[in-house]
Amino acid sequence: FLHKLVLGIETSCDDTAAAVVDETGNVLGEAMHSQTEVHLKTGGIIPPVAQQLHRENIQRIVQEALSVSRISPSELSAIATTIKPGLALSLGVGLSFSLQLVDQLKKPFIPIHHMEAHALTIRLTNKVEFPFLVLLISGGHCLLALVRGVSDFLLLGKSLDIAPGDMLDKVARRLSLIRHPECSTMSGGKAIEHLAKQGNRFHFDIKPPMQRAKNCDFSFSGLQHVIDKTIMQKEKEEGIEKGQILSSAADIAAAVQHTTACHLAKRTHRAILFCKQRNLLSQSNAVLVVSGGVASNLYIRKALEIVTNATQCTLLCPPPRLCTDNGIMIAWNGIERLRAGLGILHNIEGVRYEPK
Ligand code: KG4
Ligand code: ZN
Repeated sequence: FLHKLVLGIETSCDDTAAAVVDETGNVLGEAMHSQTEVHLKTGGIIPPVAQQLHRENIQRIVQEALSVSRISPSELSAIATTIKPGLALSLGVGLSFSLQLVDQLKKPFIPIHHMEAHALTIRLTNKVEFPFLVLLISGGHCLLALVRGVSDFLLLGKSLDIAPGDMLDKVARRLSLIRHPECSTMSGGKAIEHLAKQGNRFHFDIKPPMQRAKNCDFSFSGLQHVIDKTIMQKEKEEGIEKGQILSSAADIAAAVQHTTACHLAKRTHRAILFCKQRNLLSQSNAVLVVSGGVASNLYIRKALEIVTNATQCTLLCPPPRLCTDNGIMIAWNGIERLRAGLGILHNIEGVRYEPK
């Protein structure tokens, strides 16, 4: 008896990742190359640099995922690859490599939407039936959607500007946390979470954005500017040069984290009520899935837990390694699509990579 096997390939941003997953959710092999270190040095991702690094690593990463899984490529049922959304130049590397492989191995090709893959990941680790709500929060993503089926999504809300992780990264950079002895190796969001534990959020009163907006959208750039101003004022008060660490940094971190958590929780609460009122979600055992790098923040999770407890929902988070970009979620999305018979291309003629 042979299970379906899918090779998943992900290159939408700054991770070159591949994995082989079977129908039951077993991960047979996985490999990943992260470009984070390079991009940290340049203070952000430079797309042509990301493209070059994907080119240098993709062959090796796919080969590694296949050899760890100890299958022969001929046993694959299909190859699944992220085709959008993401950085055009990065996506192109994964797609052209995949199309070559598809041609060589004569396998079906399954184009994957990166956000669909994030949203379905929970079904690899937990028995979650459709429909469920998903909140995706990371450095690049911020959306709230009702997942009604493998490729049936109702978008309920999104950020009107930047993603929460992006905002936390910018605040951390502004606070020079990279020079803080306890936080120098942490991502911005993680540094804020760490420092917030030593701070008092009541020292700064930062209001959550969009309090009167009657929808489930998000906004983080206004918040970022308010915090920027607060930091500037404190720097003056403390007579500190740009680049030095404020004595009130921990208090600011605590206030930012609290306001972010409140904003995320309030918009999510609205979405849950909206879905329940319209019977789009089960009244008694609805599920809220929270994923993305920011989902690892325990303070934010606690805030969301208050909301789910108050609305008879269950809060689920994939394990951290599946919350961030990875090849497993792409392969799993391929399995989901194979099982549902959706979007499987048996002929890749005409599939081209078009930037934009
Ligand atoms: O999902 P991810 O690895 O990459 C994408 O952005 O797609 O998420 C990274 C983001 C960064 O902005 C980082 O600051 C944030 O997630 N992050 C956190 C925490 N750990 C990572 N934000 C808040 N609290 C954390 N503990
Ligand atoms: Zn992602």
